[in-house]
Amino acid sequence: MKIPQHARSQEELFAQLESFRQHDLKWREGRAWGYVYDAGREVEEVAKKAFMMYLSENGLDPTSFPSLAILENQIISMARDHLHGDQEVVGNFTSGGTESILLALKTARDRFFDLHPEVGQPEMILPISAHAAFYKAAHYLGVKIVQTPIDRDTKRAEVEAIRAAITPRTALIVASATCYAWGVVDPIEEIAKIAQEHDLLFHVDGCIGGFLLQYYRRLGEEIPLFDFRIPGVTSISMDLHKYAFAPKGASVVLHRNKSLRKYQIFACASWTGYTIVNTAVQSSKSGGPMAAAWAVMNFIGDDGYMRYAREILEEQKKLVQGIQAIPDLCLPVIPQMPLIAVDSRTVNIFHVIDEMKFKGWYVQPQLGYQGHRACLHLLVSPSHRGQADGFLVDLAAAVELAKQQPESELVAQVKEMFGQITPDQITEEVLQGMLGMAGIQKAGLPERLAEVNEVLDAMPSALTERLLTAFMNDLFTPTK
Ligand SMILES: Cc1ncc(COP(=O)(O)O)c(C=O)c1O
Repeated sequence: MKIPQHARSQEELFAQLESFRQHDLKWREGRAWGYVYDAGREVEEVAKKAFMMYLSENGLDPTSFPSLAILENQIISMARDHLHGDQEVVGNFTSGGTESILLALKTARDRFFDLHPEVGQPEMILPISAHAAFYKAAHYLGVKIVQTPIDRDTKRAEVEAIRAAITPRTALIVASATCYAWGVVDPIEEIAKIAQEHDLLFHVDGCIGGFLLQYYRRLGEEIPLFDFRIPGVTSISMDLHKYAFAPKGASVVLHRNKSLRKYQIFACASWTGYTIVNTAVQSSKSGGPMAAAWAVMNFIGDDGYMRYAREILEEQKKLVQGIQAIPDLCLPVIPQMPLIAVDSRTVNIFHVIDEMKFKGWYVQPQLGYQGHRACLHLLVSPSHRGQADGFLVDLAAAVELAKQQPESELVAQVKEMFGQITPDQITEEVLQGMLGMAGIQKAGLPERLAEVNEVLDAMPSALTERLLTAFMNDLFTPTK
């Protein structure tokens, strides 16, 4: 494909852009329980208008665009108040949870190097329910991950395992409020005490829960403290593009004080161009996401967020009750957030996910890990208002249909294969063969994905990661 020789009409371009979306997840109808936090058309319009106003302003240099510094300081001030930080608490706007987490880890790593230059590779203590973004951050920043277990029943981080994992190399302890997979808050106060006893940094991942949980607390839900009111918490990430309903590209990372935040900042004067000083990962960046987040927060307001929270909570409770009433399904844990994991001991949950897809619902698969079984995951947002009843009827029917699906021979074959080879013996050809066996072609995924999910679930995670890498490496092949 080449850049077109001549300009194409706008009409043609926009028609084509629209056509590209035909196979995308249909999120507007409230049938997709994941990916999009939809607060309705009015909020969307406000976000778009603000985004477009600031589309071309460049966040590279807030002294050339002081408007962006005003927006950022106001957003951080609102976020700090929301998380009960005092006047010492500072923070920055980032492009999303992953960037906020990366910056929290960079802060911990660079402080560690500063304080303990002789010790070597720093470590981060991470309960296994912590988000994959921490693994990415550790991978990018050269930090070693020390995993700790979560309780089998409550799905919360095991406090004593964290204590036992501390070494002279520990630079950061992490816990979630809430974790994505189970929607539960880790024992933040107890972990914070341990962090304080050992003079360690402690990051609370509030990317998905930090914003909404405060409203749930005010609505009388039993949500433990997780924010800056707890002395040992040294940083918190909180996404605005989740339950604050800003468009994608909006998160914040807050630190207890400026003497910690200084480690987050990157400056470079060792080259021949303009001086660089960035608070976040990106250098040149559109002012759009920040303006949109600022506008959405102001447009919805505290009472508006409270209304959304009440509606979401109502739908969440209806779903939890309804799912508990379906004989073959169970909840591994009662969630404290509108993140509902659904499990079964009698039906293949991956088939239920497929059957729901054929009924026009998107629900997310979660693979099993370290004895925590694979499950189906729902993320409730305002667009799901009034959807619970219809969803539950279809879910019960999907369970019955799933029971009729035959057992996969492929899964048995794959399991046998692993008995004979170790991950390092697996070549690119074998990986391609496995993708082919699972029905994954360059053109895309098969209609029924249960078998693929089962295969992924059956494999050791290191191998799953290699297979996913091979898949992505193929998916992004330039158009001919
Ligand atoms: C608890 C938690 N942390 C981090 C992230 C990563 O956020 P993002 O996808 O915005 O990078 C998520 C995303 O769902 C999350 O739920």
